[in-house]
Amino acid sequence: MTRPPGFDQWEERFAGAEYRFGREPNPFLARCRLLLPAAGGALAVADGEGRNGVWLARQGLDVVSADFSPTAQAKARALAAEQGVAITLVEADVHGWDYPEAQFDVVAEIFTQFSPPAGRALKWAGMKRALKPGGLLIVVGYTPKQLAYGTGGPKDVAHLYTRAMLEEAFGDFADLAITEEETELQEGAGHSGMSAVIGLTGRKR
Ligand SMILES: C[S@@+](CC[C@H](N)C(=O)[O-])C[C@H]1O[C@@H](n2cnc3c(N)ncnc32)[C@H](O)[C@@H]1O
Repeated sequence: MTRPPGFDQWEERFAGAEYRFGREPNPFLARCRLLLPAAGGALAVADGEGRNGVWLARQGLDVVSADFSPTAQAKARALAAEQGVAITLVEADVHGWDYPEAQFDVVAEIFTQFSPPAGRALKWAGMKRALKPGGLLIVVGYTPKQLAYGTGGPKDVAHLYTRAMLEEAFGDFADLAITEEETELQEGAGHSGMSAVIGLTGRKR
């Protein structure tokens, strides 16, 4: 089978015992706690070692954690067991996955900027399809300012998110809120230091 681009590099990054992006949820995601339903299904897109999917499961949600790295998913399984929750791990390429129609109450996409523009369009269309009407979308990424900080994320500006890009893709959502901030991130060795990030919440109509 042909591996998707980046597969070997991600496997190598996740090979050590440490959690490359830490074990705590992303701070923007954690700040979304009061927007979450008390129960329901959540999809964590490219969830890696599971810090965000496990946190969503701890909030009472039935979580599908999708990623293409079996090494990261083994660590996600261990983190879930350690924290006493169950998550469903799906090994998938998020550019080509058959996203189920209207299945999830929450879809969270946290730092998945490996996608080139064409892959991003496929991924975002799939994420929209997978949300139920009224379902909550949470997106977190770096903005182009992050290239100056150099504290994590891709080096290709075409992969970074801007307010205009998010508004174009998700402008049809209700309660759309987009926040840009420059903030200190401490998310393992992968994201460490002052960072330029953008976060989105919105509900599918
Ligand atoms: C920067 S990490 C973020 C992981 C997680 N979302 C977090 O915030 O901790 C990016 C993740 O994307 C995964 N990934 C990269 N390309 C992928 C693809 N085409 N399909 C699925 N997962 C992919 C990697 O395995 C890695 O877990």
